[in-house]
Amino acid sequence: MLKRVLMAAAATCVVWAADRKFQVGRTASPAEVSARDYSVGADGTGLPAGSGTAQTGKPLYTARCAECHGEQLQGDDKRGYPALAGGKGSIATPKPVKTVGSFWPYAPGVFDYIRRAMPYDNPHTLKNAEVYAITAYVLAVNGIIGEAEPMNEKTLPRVKMPNRDGFTGDTRQQKGRKPGL
Ligand code: HEC
Repeated sequence: MLKRVLMAAAATCVVWAADRKFQVGRTASPAEVSARDYSVGADGTGLPAGSGTAQTGKPLYTARCAECHGEQLQGDDKRGYPALAGGKGSIATPKPVKTVGSFWPYAPGVFDYIRRAMPYDNPHTLKNAEVYAITAYVLAVNGIIGEAEPMNEKTLPRVKMPNRDGFTGDTRQQKGRKPGL
């Protein structure tokens, strides 16, 4: 029954789309869809080509990020800008300090977040290689990788974040469902 109702609803949607009942908007082009279809999975799926090291990332960080997150990645509490480094070993204590280094479980997520949302006042203005370099710099300042280690679509997923095992699975998970879906 439910299946039949859903099928009927789907058929109605198709008719509406074809009729352009409301005469507003238009179908997004494949290029427009792919420009927004850039999510990166925890395992690195979807990471683009490009590469960068902490050495090349440092001047980029200083120019594009330090104004808010501080030269030492210490953040700025008063202005509400989070620290990106520090807090190591604090997560399981009564006063956890959550930063990329202490809290974030997967390195590809750092790339994804920076590319998607930063710099806060001017997102989507960094090239992929620049995002890799800045990601490498943030990881290196946290002592997770070395200064000269290139970060790219192959190496970034292999980085083991210190808090990767600090999360517990969703106990409501149903059989056959993948996390996050
Ligand atoms: C104009 C100020 C500003 C600039 C410039 C800026 N950020 Fe941010 N950043 C923020 C704010 C505000 C947040 C918190 C956003 C939120 O929670 O929604 C944030 C959050 C973050 C986070 C998530 C931190 C966490 O643990 O939740 C990362 C990572 C980050 N920024 C990296 C960067 C990088 C890298 C750059 C440079 C490319 C940058 N930011 C530039 C203001 C800024």
